[in-house]
Amino acid sequence: MSTTAVITEPVKAMDNVRMCLDGKDPKFGDFRDDLARDGFAVVKGAIPSDRARRYADEMYSWLEGFNLGFDRNDLSTAHKDRLPLINEKGMCLHYGVAHEKFVWDVRSEPGVVETFEKVYNDQDLIVSFDAINFGFPNRTDLPPNKPWPHQDQDPEKPGFRCLQGLVNLLPNGPEDGGLIVCRGAHLLSEEFHRGMAWEERIPAWTPEWYGFTENGMKWLADRGCEWVKVCAEPGDLLLWDSRTPHYNLSPKGTIPRFCIYTCYMPVADATQDDLVRKKEAFENRLGTTHWPNAKHTGSNVAKRDGKECPYNRFKPVQEPVLSERAFRLTGIPYLKSQA
Ligand SMILES: [Fe+2]
Repeated sequence: MSTTAVITEPVKAMDNVRMCLDGKDPKFGDFRDDLARDGFAVVKGAIPSDRARRYADEMYSWLEGFNLGFDRNDLSTAHKDRLPLINEKGMCLHYGVAHEKFVWDVRSEPGVVETFEKVYNDQDLIVSFDAINFGFPNRTDLPPNKPWPHQDQDPEKPGFRCLQGLVNLLPNGPEDGGLIVCRGAHLLSEEFHRGMAWEERIPAWTPEWYGFTENGMKWLADRGCEWVKVCAEPGDLLLWDSRTPHYNLSPKGTIPRFCIYTCYMPVADATQDDLVRKKEAFENRLGTTHWPNAKHTGSNVAKRDGKECPYNRFKPVQEPVLSERAFRLTGIPYLKSQA
């Protein structure tokens, strides 16, 4: 009698491989498999939940600190007259907020940075200085937040170029607004743009944004693509390929939706000119959108009804305190002129 030993080993996370998101990535045995297949993934507990809740508290305190009457315990005070400028999509872009200490603390969280290190198989990363998001339920003082399905990447530059991320800071269930993604459509992007090249594009302020029209949505539906609301707990990190069609919805229940966008790329993918621009953005406490290579730099001048917001400020309330690891994420140590 012969016996055959069947050895089953647990799937080990594969290391030393940079993800390509081209449908040919190897199996990794972790969140990277979801990302490769679906174009998005949730990394559970990238930040411990107690710390995530503390960051949410700091976000509330930052809003209350404008002294305009917003009170976290009375959400009827979530009104534009009592808040800094926050658009209907929940984005807060000005006031130096991209460099507040709590925002940098989230960007520097080891579980967040290490996730991107795994994706790129690279520890030499730079991070975006992006907006933060305050979504309050039942706001009637803002235009409705209609779905705006889009890709954050120029169709004329195909392939995987940017991995976007956000750290979710409050419980975020099906009714609590947040990220909606079109599962798996990142891998159809090139085919989509070949097939839809005839269609006039929705005007956008940057070629790195592509909006889906009704025809585009039908194209996706005809191929069985499904739109998914991503649910998350405090401290979860949501990732998506910039080619994955996505948008956000406002919360409908009783809980606000707070998140901080965190997007990293290898510094090797940025030019020295990019890093110079990025250094200036850092030193002037400006935002860079989600592009870590500072493709676009913003302004701290919020405008309300065409007039400068009287509460504009050009520095964070609490300046960031960066560890050596976090400072590398500014890209400054990689500037040749600094050597
Ligand atoms: Fe986007």
